[in-house]
Amino acid sequence: MKTRTPLIAGNWKMYKTPPEAAETARAVAAAAAGAAGVEVMIAPSFVCLTETAKALAGTGVFLGAQDIFWETEGAFTGEVSGPMLKAAGCSHVIVGHSERRQFFGETDESVNKKTRAAIREGLIPVVCVGETKAEREGGLTLKVLDRQVRRGLEGLSLETVVVAYEPVWAIGTGLTATADQAQESHAFIRSVLGEAAGKNVAEGLRILYGGSVKPGNAASLMAMPDIDGALVGGASLSAESFGGIIRFGG
Ligand code: PGA
Repeated sequence: MKTRTPLIAGNWKMYKTPPEAAETARAVAAAAAGAAGVEVMIAPSFVCLTETAKALAGTGVFLGAQDIFWETEGAFTGEVSGPMLKAAGCSHVIVGHSERRQFFGETDESVNKKTRAAIREGLIPVVCVGETKAEREGGLTLKVLDRQVRRGLEGLSLETVVVAYEPVWAIGTGLTATADQAQESHAFIRSVLGEAAGKNVAEGLRILYGGSVKPGNAASLMAMPDIDGALVGGASLSAESFGGIIRFGG
């Protein structure tokens, strides 16, 4: 019996304008209204945060950002800080998504600084880790996860942190890790967190699975003992499919 409250999080990536985001957010809130015992979060792009916050006001659905910069303000063109995210209505922030690692030079070191900044601002960081296809095929999965978790979270107080295990080869590809493959990685991540923060803290932390989660595979993933929710890309863009995943979250 899991005591951790599941979190179903939607990552809208670079999709939707502010009016589109607000409309989908209202529909997601309606879909989430009947789901008990599960937390729901959506992360639209920065420019959609304010409109989406208005759409979600009073609904209980949490608002997240897709990235954060570690300084609070200054001459950092194009960056967005924790206090700005808080003021825009965010309670959560995704850090170190594999697309940021792959296309925008994110490293374990920058993930660490961003996670630290999120914690400092009282934002819940959703820290993403996961191996590439070549790493899995080379038998390096656990080694990569060990490095990403240790370096990404080194020296931080982890009580509020959420970790998302997203095998890179499963993101947006339609290939999902099997529930057993995901469980193996999740249990391993929890053991690394236990070494870093103590077993009690690690037992309370949520580890989400991400990578082609759909209404049809959510239940079998959520049934695994160390899978505490989902980080959903493509299937979170419509309230209908995201609602289907939310209903399996409880
Ligand atoms: P996907 O994306 O659900 O479209 O595979 C997951 C993610 O990138 O968080």
